[in-house]
Amino acid sequence: MLNKVEQKIDEIVTNLHHKEIKELLTKLPKGKRLRAKLILYIAGENEESIKLASIVEMIHAASLLHDDVIDDAMQRRGVDSINAIYGNKNAIMLGDILYSIGFFELVAMGPDIAKSVSNAVVQLSIGELDDVYLSKKFNTDALIYRDMIYKKTASLMEASAYSAATLAGKNPNAYARYGKNLGIAFQMIDDMLDITSDTQTLGKPALHDFVEGKTTLPYIYLYEKLDTSEKQKLASMHCRALDKAEQEWIVSNIKKYDIIEKCYLEAKELVLEALAAIKSEKNQKLDSIAKEMIDRSF
Ligand code: IPE
Ligand code: IPE
Ligand code: MG
Ligand code: MG
Ligand code: MG
Repeated sequence: MLNKVEQKIDEIVTNLHHKEIKELLTKLPKGKRLRAKLILYIAGENEESIKLASIVEMIHAASLLHDDVIDDAMQRRGVDSINAIYGNKNAIMLGDILYSIGFFELVAMGPDIAKSVSNAVVQLSIGELDDVYLSKKFNTDALIYRDMIYKKTASLMEASAYSAATLAGKNPNAYARYGKNLGIAFQMIDDMLDITSDTQTLGKPALHDFVEGKTTLPYIYLYEKLDTSEKQKLASMHCRALDKAEQEWIVSNIKKYDIIEKCYLEAKELVLEALAAIKSEKNQKLDSIAKEMIDRSF
């Protein structure tokens, strides 16, 4: 099923009149294609849904090209990132090309879908900006964190689900609610995996968020549990390279206070909310995609 999405992406990129860039874009590693699956499971497999899935995956890939520049990340999808190989300037422009091709193709999908997805990219970009701004100091506010991850990650999933439902003549608002809750949970899990997993498994740098100044949910909850001197210690590690002892101190305290379990429960609540939004649809595949998203290791 995803084969057709891969073919479509290649077909769209092939229209570019530039041999080297075309080659580079078709060789980009593929990722999990979760957003494509989401769309195909909602709208079924047909020409329009395959096109929408391809557009959204191209837009998502563009956002990752920019994200790795923003996060100084040298690996992506198991290989060296584009910014690591070709530098930031090339990564940014390749991202712009992918975004623009995506928007060009989106226009033909009709105004409702084009508006929804393009607005999600505005939200995503604002979310990425908020993420950068918040990382300047130690953010301890879980609500601010949640609003930021809604924008940077869940907005595209929300729009994907909304648009797929629109294509299929299903209730777009119910599916939007599904996509939104799933997306927030998805980013929470991503932020937990940064701490619990390793670079090899993730295919991108592990224990990197805090170094970049990102006080994701586990750090916010850990901070709440620590005493005054420990709070100071954690805050002193914010936004800088950590030695092995400091990394171990963070990980052992996260274990000590069951922080991952607390975050996991919160993500699970969101997944249940996502499932409740489309309960009457009885779509087994969407139920399992939600469960896969939460019980993943990369
Ligand atoms: C990575 O998304 C960016 C986040 C929203 C955390 P994915 O984990 O879906 O990335 P790929 O497409 O599978 O590589
Ligand atoms: C960014 O989140 C998600 C996007 C909207 C691009 P992260 O910065 O946590 O994503 P990863 O961990 O690099 O994939
Ligand atoms: Mg990143
Ligand atoms: Mg980021
Ligand atoms: Mg991450």
